[in-house]
Formats: sequence, C-alpha cells, structure tokens
Amino acid sequence: MKKIEIIGLQTIPLIEPGNDLAEIILDALNREKLSLVNGDILLIAQTIVSKSTGMIKDLREIIPSKKALELNEKIAPKMRAKDLPEKSPELIECILRESKKILKAEHVIITETNHGFICANAGIDKSNVKGESKITVLPKNPDKEAEKIRMHLEKKTNKKIAVIITDSFGRPFRNGSVGVAIGISGMNPLLDKRGHVDLFGYKLQSTIIAQADNLAAAASLMMGESNEGIPVVLMRGYNFIWKEKSRIDSLLRKEEEDLFRINESLENVKEILKSRRSYKIEFSDQHVNKKIIENCIEIARWAPNAHNAQPWRYIVLEKNETRIKLINQMNEKLKKDLKREGKSQEFINNKINKTRFNFIEAPYLILPCLDKKDLEKYHDSERDQKEFIMAVQSVSNSITYFLLALHAKNLAACWYCAPLFAQEIIKETLNLPSSYLPLAFITIGYPKKEIKAPSRKDLTEILFYSEHFKKR
Ligand SMILES: Cc1cc2nc3c(=O)[nH]c(=O)nc-3n(C[C@H](O)[C@H](O)[C@H](O)COP(=O)(O)O)c2cc1C
Repeated sequence: MKKIEIIGLQTIPLIEPGNDLAEIILDALNREKLSLVNGDILLIAQTIVSKSTGMIKDLREIIPSKKALELNEKIAPKMRAKDLPEKSPELIECILRESKKILKAEHVIITETNHGFICANAGIDKSNVKGESKITVLPKNPDKEAEKIRMHLEKKTNKKIAVIITDSFGRPFRNGSVGVAIGISGMNPLLDKRGHVDLFGYKLQSTIIAQADNLAAAASLMMGESNEGIPVVLMRGYNFIWKEKSRIDSLLRKEEEDLFRINESLENVKEILKSRRSYKIEFSDQHVNKKIIENCIEIARWAPNAHNAQPWRYIVLEKNETRIKLINQMNEKLKKDLKREGKSQEFINNKINKTRFNFIEAPYLILPCLDKKDLEKYHDSERDQKEFIMAVQSVSNSITYFLLALHAKNLAACWYCAPLFAQEIIKETLNLPSSYLPLAFITIGYPKKEIKAPSRKDLTEILFYSEHFKKR
C-alpha cells in the first residue's frame, strides 16, 4: 500500500520573538513520541517563523507616507462599498514597505512582495498574533530560515529531511485560499516530469509539478487557518529527491513569461492613456527630481518617427534667471502682437499675467525643438514640405510619449504652443543652433488639484468606414 502521512504537531507552544524554532520542534516531536526519519518533510507555518524572527510590527509606531495616504483614499470607498473592514493608512504603509510593486488596489491590495510573491496585502497577517495593533510580515528570507531549521534538525537527528515554510494565498480565477510554499530547503520546489511516460506510453512534453505547493496545500488541511494551533506538520512517505541547495524562486514565473501580467500591463496602459490631463493650474510645491524628467525624456525617444530620423531635441529650462529673461522677452513680443490685433489693454494684461504664471512658476519648463538638420533633402519643394510635416508629426509623437511617461510618474504637465509664435526670440535668447525650431513648451510639476476630463467627441463622429464616403 502506498500512503503519505500528514501528522500535525499538537504541542507547539505560542511562539515569541527570539524563540529557537528548531529546538521547539524537536521538543514537540519528543513530547509526541515521534522521531524524524530520512525523507521526512517538515512544513512550518509562516506566522511562527515571522514571530520567532521578530517580523512583528506595531501599527502604532508606523508613520504613513503620502503614497499610503493617497492609496487609502483610493481604496477606502471600495472597501466600504463591499462592507469590508477598512485598512488603516499605517497598515497600507506596511504593505507598501513590504512590496516592490502594487499590482491592484481595489477592495484588496495585491502586490508583488520584495521576494517576488504575488499575494494580497504583501502577506501581512493580523490573525494569530497577540495585540490589536500588531501584525506579522513575511520573513525577510524564508529560504534561509528553512535552511537554518533543517541544518539544526539534521545535525541533532542525523536524518536527511526537507523543510518548507508555508503560507496561504488567494488565487486569481478561483475563490478561496490555498496553502503555498514560500521558503524551502532540502528539496527542489519543482518536480520536472518532462521526458517521463504516461500510462499509455506518451512522453510528457511540458509537465512540471509544483510539488512544494502541493505539499503546502496538503499540510494546510492539517494546519487550518484559525485556532487549530497546529503550525508544524510532519509529512511522511512522499518520495522526493533530496537536494542540498534549493530556492523557492524557481516557483515564481518570470514577469516576461507571464501571459496574464502582460495583459494586465496593457490594462495599465489604457488607464494611463485615458487619465492623462493637461494641467493648467498652480502646481504643488513638492520638489521635482531632475532624474525623473531625464527618465521620461529617455522614454520619449521611443516614439514612432519618420525614417527613424528622431528630429526631436529637448531643452530643459530650470527655474532660474534664464527662464525669466526668456519669458519676459516672449511677452514683449506677445504684447505687440496682441496690440496689433486690436486687443484691449485689460485683455493684454491678463494674457501676460497668465503666461508669466504658467511659464515662470512651473517647477520645470521643457522646450521641445525640431532639429531641421535631421530632415531628408529632396530637390522638390512639395516633397520637402511633406518631409517637414513628417518631422513635426514625429516630434509631436515624442512629446506625447513624454507627457504619458510624466503622467505615469504622477507628474502633471501641459503642452503649450506659445514658442511657435516666438521662435526667433527663443533661439536668440537661448543661443540655440540655427537648425533648431522651437515647437512647444511643456510645464511640469506635481499637481495640487485633480483636473476634470474635458469631453471627447463620440466615436460615431470620428470613426468611419470607407463605405461611408462612397458616392451614391
Ligand atoms: C499641439 C498642442 C498645443 C496646445 N497648446 C495649448 C496652449 O497653448 N494653451 C493651453 O492652455 N493648452 C494647450 N494645449 C492643451 C490642450 O488644450 C488639451 O490637450 C486639450 O484641451 C485636451 O485636454 P486634455 O489634454 O486634458 O485631454 C495644447 C495641446 C496640443 C496637443
């Protein structure tokens, strides 16, 4: 008869920071008249590993960051709508600190933890820990903790065993949580069955079994979730190949190979495209890091452009004397233009004040230019003109990429056409090469207020199939 035994250790005491888990497990085995044999697997609940290694936080000692407060504002109404208990900004702060990426923030927060696990609330647990304001966070390095326990037990018992640290995660597409492995030692978490034959002699092509997760799920039947108090399970009779060096991250699918994450990033793109706004009001006084601007210009280089000529140039105007001098000179021209058009003094003053405010006060002002040097030359004025249009289109594409990149970094921006009407003044004041054509100003800063989306034409007004224009 083939069987696998799942034995729950029932005499593990409540664990405190600093406890030696390996010794505690040995004591429990002794009390329960059990001794380890070669090939045994010990499955240990994350909570006790976190507690013993001091991974407990007191929410009263956490100061939420601006990001945590913003996230709280975003998700609190969604949690209320679902009648779920709200998360405190302090808890959200802890989730952020334990995560490298937030994948979803709805009525739950799904993150990629610093280890690379994808789970709700970065694996932070409020249950099974004493104290209203206390939480446990996942062990920093669960593989290392599993290894420490295995080494200690093997030394004391002279038996070759494996140790798995388990947690329970929810799953996409299916309801309910299951036990999963988050740390391992002594066993490969994956069992590669490729090349083996099935019952009918068919050679398996792609079967790789997540044996560590299967074992964790089986152990979770015994551990339970609430007050069962069985945080350590001994699994006996499962055949596995013993392995000295093992890592849990072989269970984690690489982002670029994960079809579902690619879809999700497309969802993010849609969100970014639709939520970008032209920000024309006062910026907040939050400092803008120059590196972020440079990173966004780096992204702007990837815009589609005619002949891959990349005729764009970006000139960063920091908040200094040069910028003030430039805006004042542009305004002198603007005044004259508006006077010539017969505008009233009041209109002119308003316009001048507005441009001063927009362009002098913005934390950053960027001047995208078209470098005519990159244009192809034809001996045909019509072709030359189309080439110029293509160059303008190309720079425009790049500016759009730039705006979207800024938006993805939570920066607000607006595209202004003013430089088109003062190209010579700009070139002269900034001493630009003669081939540069200033095309726009982009004001950049952190937003102070949210901007409402202006309306968009209905799809029926802008989308046509060729039949629509056919002569009747
Ligand atoms: C080529 C171009 C020139 C623009 N020039 C100005 C401008 O001079 N002043 C201004 O307030 N907004 C300017 N805008 C911003 C538009 O007003 C804005 O994109 C439009 O109203 C749609 O709003 P949204 O960007 O928030 O979707 C310009 C946008 C583009 C693409």
